[in-house]
Amino acid sequence: MKADRDRMPKHVAIIMDGNGRWAKSKGVPRLMGHRAGMEAMKRIVDYSDKLGIKYLTVYAFSTENWKRSVEEVSGIFKLLVTFVNRDLRELIDNNVKVKVLGDYSAIPDDSRKALEKTLKDTERNTGLQFNIALNYGGRDEITRSTQRIAKMAAEGRINPEDVTEETIGKYLWTGAEYADAPDPELIIRTSGEVRLSNFLLWQGAYSEIVISDVLWPDFDEEEYERCIAEYQSRDRRFGGR
Ligand code: FPP
Repeated sequence: MKADRDRMPKHVAIIMDGNGRWAKSKGVPRLMGHRAGMEAMKRIVDYSDKLGIKYLTVYAFSTENWKRSVEEVSGIFKLLVTFVNRDLRELIDNNVKVKVLGDYSAIPDDSRKALEKTLKDTERNTGLQFNIALNYGGRDEITRSTQRIAKMAAEGRINPEDVTEETIGKYLWTGAEYADAPDPELIIRTSGEVRLSNFLLWQGAYSEIVISDVLWPDFDEEEYERCIAEYQSRDRRFGGR
């Protein structure tokens, strides 16, 4: 099924789930599932750009993912370095701007440095904005925003009555100070799971959620179009009539 090119969402966010199950189904180590997941991620970045989507956000590592084994966690970050080193040139050539949602100061040094280089080398690009949610948690970012605002109030720099939804949104990772991205119209979750798992809790208030049964490493251009077409077939009312 093809998506209507004239009614593309501006911002698509994806919960890339099912790497572990994909690996298990093939009888290979979990990390091979993440490696295949990285290739799927690359496919979807390229295709989002072709479809004219302006912002793509992927959930690569959550604040809860630290609970996984040390090998799995360090393996995922190594993959991040692989991706960045291998594909940076192409991202630059394709005019992709990379941003991180989350406090990435906590990730291993080599990954952080590779990532910083990517952010810097792509910051002037004006094409697709590719947001990687890393050490990201929805409740965590709302807490951080609240702390900033509480501090400003304590210092007398803002009146509590003047705190609006815009104020709270401004200090989230998608806010004007960081990635500066609009709310996603569409959130896709793969592998048939039907949960938000602490992803874009604030920004996703009115997002359409589309569930794909495909395991993330198998997610391809065709399934992506099907998800977008499903979104386009829905009637969005934002609580109105
Ligand atoms: C969810 O699958 C996937 C993740 C927690 C990691 C996502 C990472 C990648 C796609 C690799 C690219 C990485 C970076 C950092 C750019 P799961 O392991 O929860 O799968 P399961 O539910 O089947 O076990």
